[in-house]
Amino acid sequence: MIVPFVDLKAQYRTIAAEVEAAMHRVVTDADFILGSDVEKFEQEFARFCEAENAVGLDSGTSALELALRAYGIGDGDEVITASHTFIATAAAISYTGARPILVDIDRDTYNIDSEQIEAAITPRTKAIVPVHLYGQPADLEPILSIARKHNLIVIEDACQAHGARYKGKSVGSLGDVGCFSFYPGKNLGAYGDAGMIVTNSKEVADKVRLLRNYGQPQKYQHVMMGYNRRLDSLQAAVLRAKLPYLEGWNDARRRAATLYDEMLEGVDEVGTPYCAEESAHVYHLYVIQHPKRDQLLQHLKDHGVYGGLHYPTPVHLQPCYEHLNKPAGSLPVTEAIASRVISLPMFAEITEEQIEYVCKQVKSFTSTTQF
Ligand SMILES: Cc1ncc(COP(=O)(O)O)c(C=O)c1O
Repeated sequence: MIVPFVDLKAQYRTIAAEVEAAMHRVVTDADFILGSDVEKFEQEFARFCEAENAVGLDSGTSALELALRAYGIGDGDEVITASHTFIATAAAISYTGARPILVDIDRDTYNIDSEQIEAAITPRTKAIVPVHLYGQPADLEPILSIARKHNLIVIEDACQAHGARYKGKSVGSLGDVGCFSFYPGKNLGAYGDAGMIVTNSKEVADKVRLLRNYGQPQKYQHVMMGYNRRLDSLQAAVLRAKLPYLEGWNDARRRAATLYDEMLEGVDEVGTPYCAEESAHVYHLYVIQHPKRDQLLQHLKDHGVYGGLHYPTPVHLQPCYEHLNKPAGSLPVTEAIASRVISLPMFAEITEEQIEYVCKQVKSFTSTTQF
């Protein structure tokens, strides 16, 4: 049996007619740039996130960068985030000219350790960027209270957490701005790159609208230095067709995660994901821990199961961040977790039979390996 890491073709087969009709509408109307599908998707996604405004962008990275820029964050500023994340979280901070200040994570949730944030605050700190990694909300309550105490902005990196909830509330709408990616493999994925910010501040939404479109409130009038970071109308049409399915897909991911949890329970040396009680996890990734994860990854591949590593090298140990002077050993939990995590196949359409097969292969590796 072959079990892919993600199966975008399986999803497409279930929604092909609606997606094709949506794309056809954009093409026949020649409504390609900031057309009505972009506007409608912004309204629909804002409603989904329980936020007042949404602005469509060309990627999740742009969402993070323009959210920071909307608050004037740039040269000389510092922004606190976790090192255990995709590089884009830190890169977006660097693009503005600010310095990412990377702190350690909680060993259960893999999200930023809120108890380590205050020690990282300096007079230059302007914002905190908690990442809802793998689809599990970061512990926002203490983060928001630290931010209020020190007058800092909170920009949620919700690029892996569409539909996740923290204490009953939708992620993305709890901080000052929520940033989403619609990269194809995400829980809500476009057919190319796409992104979005959501915010309850009309002022911030208006600023991001200017920043994404050359700083022009009207054609050929440029009130600030902006960029071309617009959400493409074709992608917006695809995303509109897919959005009504998102809750159902997230439920299917949760069911798949429960099956994995049950089948892997008690398997030697395997650590299954922890889900905080106050959170509704959306399992963008189903990540287990294993002391020999590189060999496990290879064993799975040899048996037709495609896993992934998210992420094998933390941001602070990447060559592009050498200048941050955070050597190996400086973030011990992050480094330990990064050496043990392995992501198993996870997508809404994964079958019970596929999950059984993956778990059988994990068990066969564990029973034949000496520790
Ligand atoms: C946590 C996180 N932040 C930011 C991004 C960047 O999103 P994009 O690839 O749409 O630029 C991603 C997407 O891969 C992500 O997983």
